[in-house]
Amino acid sequence: MKVLVTGGAGFVGSHIVDECLKSGHEVVVMDNLATGTANNLNPAAKFFSMDITDTRLIETLREEGIEAIIHQAAQSTVPPSIKDPKYDAEVNLLGTINLLQAVRELGLKKIVFAGSAASYGMPEYVPVDEQHPQRPLSFYGLSKKLIEEYFQMYRELFGISYVVFRYANIYGPRQGQSGEGSVISIFTERMLRGKTCTIEGDGGATRDYIYVGDVARANVLALESDINGVYNLSTEVEVSVNEIFQLLSEMIGYTQQPVHGPARVADIYRSVLSNSKILSSGLPWRPETTLAEGLQATIAWGRSFYGADRS
Ligand SMILES: NC(=O)c1ccc[n+]([C@@H]2O[C@H](COP(=O)([O-])OP(=O)(O)OC[C@H]3O[C@@H](n4cnc5c(N)ncnc54)[C@H](O)[C@@H]3O)[C@@H](O)[C@H]2O)c1
Repeated sequence: MKVLVTGGAGFVGSHIVDECLKSGHEVVVMDNLATGTANNLNPAAKFFSMDITDTRLIETLREEGIEAIIHQAAQSTVPPSIKDPKYDAEVNLLGTINLLQAVRELGLKKIVFAGSAASYGMPEYVPVDEQHPQRPLSFYGLSKKLIEEYFQMYRELFGISYVVFRYANIYGPRQGQSGEGSVISIFTERMLRGKTCTIEGDGGATRDYIYVGDVARANVLALESDINGVYNLSTEVEVSVNEIFQLLSEMIGYTQQPVHGPARVADIYRSVLSNSKILSSGLPWRPETTLAEGLQATIAWGRSFYGADRS
């Protein structure tokens, strides 16, 4: 298939591009390099330096003969959405509607979309399943929630085929320092450079960390399959910040003690997503990378990227 990957210069998108190419698809990347970098671009994919809100988008996709879309481009973090909700909405709502219009007008086979656990807000129970109420705590979470309703309406009105993956916290090589779930990349960088790590709060806050390679595989399999609708994408394993600190310290050989700073305001203390729905969907997918394997791969990448070797 000829696949458009939006955000293909970013962390998750670049791994999806690699996985698409590995599976024999032809790939076109669209990215405005707002947070992504040219270093992440796979030279085997054609690259358009273009904003997803661009009015020429549909024409470009038509000219390229795009058959399906994996949509990762976004204003991808919480703090900028609080500062500038308008920009967040322009990219995450209007940009995505631009792509949905392309799916509709060009009759594309499918669109796979990066939703977020942030659309749930404070968990009322764990593990959080897809039926859990969506009461986001930020404009970022809100834009991820609202756009899901557009997907649903595009299906009702025009019969489009889509998958929304509500991602847990993704980690792995190429992750920047400011993304969701970036405590692993922040600690890895600081430990490799011998700097002090700050744990916000008591370190007991938990998240469900999923390796980026597993996320990339799920996206490509979803594109190739008949599954439709909304699915959590997670490991369903709850891990605390203290555990992450401990594991990374041991693997890197880091001996400094962490500093404890104030807890983040309105931060979610426990977060873990149920993955029962995707595991019983018929998709030949399960999270295959253990936390230890994923952390080792992240450290190996960090050593080459940050130019530090403390092993
Ligand atoms: N990383 C996580 O843990 C996580 C968790 C939940 C959801 N998500 C979602 O997954 C997707 C990928 O996240 P990521 O961590 O790789 O973030 P990222 O910031 O590394 O990647 C986003 C990419 O989109 C590009 N982009 C931003 N605005 C654009 C625009 N208007 N037009 C074209 N390109 C644009 C950026 O340059 C970047 O390359 C996002 O939709 C994000 O909201 C990520």
